[in-house]
Amino acid sequence: MAAPLLQSDVSLKPLNTFGVEARARYLAHIEDAAQLEPLLDDPRVRDLPRLVLGGGSNLLFAGDFDGLVVKIDIGGLRELEAGSETWRVEVGAGENWHATVERLVAGGRPGLENLALIPGQVGAAPIQNIGAYGLELAERFESLRAWDTERRQVVTLALADCAFGYRDSVFKHEAVGRRIILSVTLALPRTWMPVTGYADVGQELVARGVSQPQPRDVFDAVVAIRRRKLPDPAALGNAGSFFKNPIVSRDKRAELIAKFPSLVSYPLAGGRFKLAAGWLIDAAGLKGATRGRAGVYERQALVLVNRGGATGGEILALAREVQDKVAEKFGVRLEPEPLIV
Ligand code: EPU
Repeated sequence: MAAPLLQSDVSLKPLNTFGVEARARYLAHIEDAAQLEPLLDDPRVRDLPRLVLGGGSNLLFAGDFDGLVVKIDIGGLRELEAGSETWRVEVGAGENWHATVERLVAGGRPGLENLALIPGQVGAAPIQNIGAYGLELAERFESLRAWDTERRQVVTLALADCAFGYRDSVFKHEAVGRRIILSVTLALPRTWMPVTGYADVGQELVARGVSQPQPRDVFDAVVAIRRRKLPDPAALGNAGSFFKNPIVSRDKRAELIAKFPSLVSYPLAGGRFKLAAGWLIDAAGLKGATRGRAGVYERQALVLVNRGGATGGEILALAREVQDKVAEKFGVRLEPEPLIV
């Protein structure tokens, strides 16, 4: 298949949900996996740094990208032969995540509704093992297909190969763009059970008068909660949670609770605790803060926003201030969640 069109000196502003200006030396859109090999062999880009872009919803451009940006536009959704306990659906990496969740729920293949309205594309979901409202992708994942740029072939990675953790996977521990995800195969439970343990979801369903939730009820509840708490990137640039919720020892958590009784934390296996980073930032007095054109979102302190025309550098400077103030007050260092390019 012919190599895709290579554009040079392209603005990445429309391709990142923070809406910051950054330029790429080269950009190519990939609609078919077969276009990858000729693109990566093109002498103009062969030796340049590479960035694979999905929905651009989990990254921050700190400056221009002097390399090749590969924008994945591979579509498609097909049902595979069902397993004994799961419906199996293979989805192209370029499909929009939320539209896929909605389509599956509407088509009688529920199981992802707690992950409704997460921005981005299907191919990006495994990279950070997207999660929300009591569910992580890993729980509905069977395998993925990727183009391995080192082995120069399509490879299949099963659940165990992906080493999923909290906002983590094998892809975060290898060179950026080494394996380019082409499609994801989901395993959706044939016996559906609502996941309503997360307090917000349970409360929202009660508020809606739903006692025996159907998939669409959970989907609608999650959409409503997210719309209330999280800014729409089309209106206010952002990349969702900017920091991961930090994980601390039992002792550290006990020391903090003694000083800050309203600290929000969740017990994990192994005696450790996850702290709500949003609470820490809020308690450090930074919720709603504005520095230049960058800000901390008023309704959820874990989200940094572009209030209009911010540069990646301004957002990064605010992120550092948040990290420093939280570290000073609580002795906990927050780690950014999006990829910083
Ligand atoms: N909180 C505050 N002040 C704030 C924000 C939060 O006190 O400004 C408190 C809340 O009251 C609550 C706790 O912190 O008690 C947790 O807040 P929330 O339920 O909003 O969830 P989160 O831990 O802040 C995580 C994910 C979100 C995901 C939600 C729901 C991470 C980094 N973030 O946020 O994911 O939607 O849980 O499951 O794990 C994302 O990754 O981009 C994202 C939005």
